[in-house]
Amino acid sequence: MTERNQIYKCEHCGIITSVIQAGGGALVCCGTEMQLMEAKATAQEGKEKHVPVIEIDGSTVSVSVGSVPHPMEEAHFISLIQLMQNGKVIMGKTLSPGEEPKAVFYNIENTENLSARELCNLHGLWES
Ligand SMILES: [Fe+2]
Repeated sequence: MTERNQIYKCEHCGIITSVIQAGGGALVCCGTEMQLMEAKATAQEGKEKHVPVIEIDGSTVSVSVGSVPHPMEEAHFISLIQLMQNGKVIMGKTLSPGEEPKAVFYNIENTENLSARELCNLHGLWES
């Protein structure tokens, strides 16, 4: 059973998808069930920094990956940054190689209980 905002990956072809509307069925790709991506956090961080860093300036919220900027090369880059509130996705930005590993979200009137998550093409899902 899926839940809204979950992210799944096909271990065979590498396709990644996010659940917009939850349902009772299983997500299947390449003939097998897709795997739920569990977000990693600070405790699992190695030498590359993946944990999103949130900065709040009034109603502007910036999310950078990570404390040392993450590479944004063709072979290794951040493809998604999502801003969350109370554990639910409220905004997001897709990224491509060559861009800055950062997203700026405007007009966030309520900045309580914000968190962020990001997706690295090599190292998976990370959350603040
Ligand atoms: Fe990475």
